[in-house]
Formats: sequence, C-alpha cells, structure tokens
Amino acid sequence: MARRLVILGSTGSIGVQALDVVDRASDEELRVVGLSAGSAWKELVAQARAHGVRRIVLADPDAAALAAEAWTEGEVLSGPDGLIALITEAECDLVLNGIVGSAGLVPTVATLGEGIDLALANKESLVVGGELVTQLAEATGAQIIPVDSEHSALHQLLADQAPGTVERLILTASGGPFRGRRAAELGEVTIEQALAHPTWAMGGKITIDSATLMNKGLELIEAHHLFGTAYDQIDVVVHPQSIVHSLIQLCDGATLAHLGYPDMRVPISYALNYPERVDVPVAPLDLAALGSLTFEPVDEVTFACLRLAREAARAAGTAPCTLNAANEIAVHAFLAGRLRFLDIAVVIEETLSRVPAARVHSFDSLADADGEARAIAAQLVADRAAA
Ligand SMILES: NC(=O)c1ccc[n+]([C@@H]2O[C@H](COP(=O)([O-])OP(=O)(O)OC[C@H]3O[C@@H](n4cnc5c(N)ncnc54)[C@H](OP(=O)(O)O)[C@@H]3O)[C@@H](O)[C@H]2O)c1
Repeated sequence: MARRLVILGSTGSIGVQALDVVDRASDEELRVVGLSAGSAWKELVAQARAHGVRRIVLADPDAAALAAEAWTEGEVLSGPDGLIALITEAECDLVLNGIVGSAGLVPTVATLGEGIDLALANKESLVVGGELVTQLAEATGAQIIPVDSEHSALHQLLADQAPGTVERLILTASGGPFRGRRAAELGEVTIEQALAHPTWAMGGKITIDSATLMNKGLELIEAHHLFGTAYDQIDVVVHPQSIVHSLIQLCDGATLAHLGYPDMRVPISYALNYPERVDVPVAPLDLAALGSLTFEPVDEVTFACLRLAREAARAAGTAPCTLNAANEIAVHAFLAGRLRFLDIAVVIEETLSRVPAARVHSFDSLADADGEARAIAAQLVADRAAA
C-alpha cells in the first residue's frame, strides 16, 4: 500500500524538492493526496494536475478564488481552516510541513492532534510551540521526523543510542555569506549579498536567517525540543563546506558524525520513507576530492541573532515565540528594503526587552505573544525607516 502524503508549502524550496523525491518513487511507495501554498495558485494547480491531486489549499483567499475559477477538476480550500480540513480529511499517513514561518504551527498541531506522523521542515512550529507540540505528539503517538538536515542527521545518529550515553549534540553552521566579517563590515550589505548563500539553495526567509545566524538559533531550539536535550549540551560549530551535518559525543569518548553533500532531497527522502531507506540520485561522498573539511568557532558578537536565540531559549515560556515573531517581521522588512541588515538583530533584541516572557498555558497564549511581538517589531521597523 502506498504511503498517502500531504505536502504543505509545495510551491516552496522544500515542497518542490519533496515532489521531486515523490516523482522518483513508485506509485506503490508514495502517493500525494493533498497540496498547499500561500498565494502561488498557478504553480499549485499545475502541481495538482501533474500529481493527480483532487484537493488543494491556498492560504490567501483571493488566490484560492482564482484557483477555483481556473481549476474545476478538484476542490480548492483556503486559510488555516482549509489546511486543517485538508489534513484531517485526507486519510493520509504522513504530512510534510514545508510552510515557512509561524503559519506552520496550525497545521503542525492539526497533524499531530490527529495522530498523523509529521515530516517537519517548518522549524518555526517547534520554536514557537515546542513544549505543547511535543506533548501533543506524545499524547497521540504521532512521530515527528525532522527534515532540517542537521536534525535529520541527529535523528539518525541518536537512533539506538542507550539512554544516558549521549553527552553533547553539535550542530554545524555554514557561517552564511558573511562568515569571517565583523559588524563594521556589514552595515551596508545588500539584499542580493545576503541572499547569496555559499552552500544551500533555499527560500528567501531561511537564507536571510542563515546570513544572520538566526537559523542556527532556531535550530538550537528545534533540537532541544526534538531530542529533549538541555541547551547547555548543544553546541554550534562553523563548518563552511556543509558536508558534516551534525555530530554527537558519547560518554566513552566517541564522536559520531553524519556526512553528505548538501542536498535537501536526502533528508526529505529520509523523512518521507522513514524507517525505510530508498535510493536518492546523489553522488557518493568523495572525501579525497574534497581534500579538507574545516571547523571554526562561531562569532556571536558579530552575529548577535544566535546570542539572542540562546537567551530566548533559556528564558523559555513565550520568549522563543516573541523572538520568532520579531525575526519574521524584521526579515520581511529587510527583504522589502525597509530595514538594514544589522538592524534585524536590533529590532529582535528591542522587541524581546519590551515583551516579558510569560508561561505558556495554551496555544492561545502563544497567539497573543506572537501578535504583541509582531506589532512592536513592526513599529520598531517603521521608526527606523522614518529616522
Ligand atoms: N529550503 C530549505 O532548504 C530548507 C532547509 C531546512 C529547513 N527549511 C525550513 O522549511 C520551511 C520552508 O522553507 P522554504 O525554504 O521551502 O521556504 P519557501 O521556499 O519560501 O516556501 C514556503 C512555502 O510556504 C508557503 N507559504 C508561505 N506563506 C504561507 C502562509 N502564510 N500560509 C501557508 N503557506 C505559506 C509558500 O507558498 P507561496 O509559494 O505561495 O508563497 C511556499 O509554498 C521553513 O521553515 C524553513 O526554515 C528549509
């Protein structure tokens, strides 16, 4: 029986690569039964036609209306309610959440709440609602299989390690396009320079997060929730080649690493087929051709976003939600040319200082913190644009 799969964010970088993985599988292995996007309705309809999908969701109601007019072979839903209906009514075995930003939290909760396994690329779900999300998965027995390459590597490295034997997790960071630079050299960087990631081709938001190192901060929080590891047992090391995806250190002095060329189809395939493994058309790793792999400490003075993420992680409660919301507003403003690169961290730090961390009682308290942080961050962006 084919595994029935819903792909959320199918028009994005992760979504398109996931469809490529599905295209290479046989119909008996993987079958797509639902797709979603934000507003790119033409691309979504083309994907639905190509994969014989009968139900799609667009977050944007205007885009949904246009899709419904143009595509009469199936049903078009819209908004968060549409996503929930798609997930809960598709009789699917697995949902791949490739939505960008905290908009991914609602479908993550809907998936796990139904006891459906989740292939999770949307790290923001765990940053914003980590405790509640993991509790929900435990309660329903649904599995979260990470798609982020570092966490996919950790998922594989940690499998079968006896309790109490793992002492540290080490996440690698490429360092992004501005590795080695000081803050004084980053005042005038352009959007194009920040989008020029040295090793990974990804969507705009995560690429800017990689340039500020906020991405590694979000991944630190993601790793904490996925693997139940204390923050002081998770390290970050800069590794410009992005060949080593993560490492674990064990109590007997052994360090295990996961290596491979940077290609997201590898962790996507792992998550979609777990616990099976299938062929992925990537070149076998040639260490002799690579010659050397290098590592260096991370510069948290220049890349203040990683420090801010660590601080929010330790503050816990709603602080990571506030961090994430302020980051989304600031990155969006940077990509729109309304905020300077170094001011991304300034806006986040100021928002965190104005929104005290509170206990998380429910998903509603997260929505409140998210809304408050977004309003403050947007005002801070506007103030800086006017100055
Ligand atoms: N790209 C990577 O290699 C990579 C690696 C590791 C982790 N991730 C994580 O995976 C997630 C997706 O990243 P990406 O690079 O694939 O992003 P992306 O290329 O920007 O794609 C985002 C997808 O989400 C949809 N979307 C945007 N806003 C939405 C909303 N409000 N509601 C519902 N759907 C919405 C987009 O639709 P439209 O096309 O209509 O805008 C698109 O399909 C992020 O959390 C990222 O951190 C990505």
